[in-house]
Amino acid sequence: MSNLALIKNLPKAELHVHIEGTFEPELMFAIAKRNQIAIPYSSVEEVKNAYNFHNLQSFLDIYYAGANVLIHEQDFYDLAWAYFEKCATDNVVHTEIFFDPQTHTERGMDFATCFNGLYRACQDAKQKLNISSHLIMCFLRHLSEESAFNTLEQALPFKDKIIGVGLDSSEVGNPPSKFERVFARARELGFLTVAHAGEEGDPDYVWQALNLLKVNRIDHGVRSEEDDKLMQRLIAEQMPLTVCPLSNLKLCVVKNLTDHNIKRMLNQGVCVTVNSDDPAYFGGYMNDNFIAIDTALNLTSDELKQLAINSFNASFISDDEKQYWISKIKAY
Ligand code: ADE
Ligand code: ZN
Repeated sequence: MSNLALIKNLPKAELHVHIEGTFEPELMFAIAKRNQIAIPYSSVEEVKNAYNFHNLQSFLDIYYAGANVLIHEQDFYDLAWAYFEKCATDNVVHTEIFFDPQTHTERGMDFATCFNGLYRACQDAKQKLNISSHLIMCFLRHLSEESAFNTLEQALPFKDKIIGVGLDSSEVGNPPSKFERVFARARELGFLTVAHAGEEGDPDYVWQALNLLKVNRIDHGVRSEEDDKLMQRLIAEQMPLTVCPLSNLKLCVVKNLTDHNIKRMLNQGVCVTVNSDDPAYFGGYMNDNFIAIDTALNLTSDELKQLAINSFNASFISDDEKQYWISKIKAY
């Protein structure tokens, strides 16, 4: 089987995708129109031309502006449903979706409006597409600790429907230590924890995420390679890194995908996984990310299979479910 066929056929889990980052310009226009909200672009082409980023912040500014057209529960449903259809195309059989409630509550929306739309799409995805999912609520790290505590409070009525909490947005200058107490409370309440670290921030951000936030996974973590001791710890603990190759390319974390360290880290025994991050902005969903690194780094079929196996091992599904999918991958 060719690598392309293998990539398409392998069952995969996605562990790092921001639902607001799956907002395709076509849907953005449609929702803006029905909500009678003006957007500063006249065509889908013009929107796509604006997606030229030089770092994380230049992307985040556009990403938060795009989310402003989401107003009604149905908008969030439609957003998530469109993403689940992409999962079905890519044979992503399980996904753990980030959502950023503060992006919406800070502009006056109810937590429930956003949450109920997303959750209903997750239920329909299981029923109609047989795709399982979990929701992970992220705190925006450029906002205050107090705002994060408020958000945690607002999530409590939905606690059983949210598997974990995460940390995203502008990394440098907003270290994990800022959220140590919020994460401690979230863990006490039974939430699993993840955090973006080592995307633009140095390895100390990854150490802090491990030691202070006691995370179950690191999102990105590609700068961990600069610190040998950190690499040893990641390998010893099989601490997953949810790596996003096309994101790293578009946000200039790497100059070329041929420079990307995912293959090197995989072969050193780090539990790296492939993910799309914000696929509507970075030029591709799960399989596009696999194809891009396969092309740039000449992956072997065993490496592709190991990446798919890692995606299930690193996920928050049960051990029985993990074994079910891993045995299917091994049979290829
Ligand atoms: N929010 C959406 N995408 C993000 C990324 N790549 N890093 C930090 N915050 C984000
Ligand atoms: Zn991300």
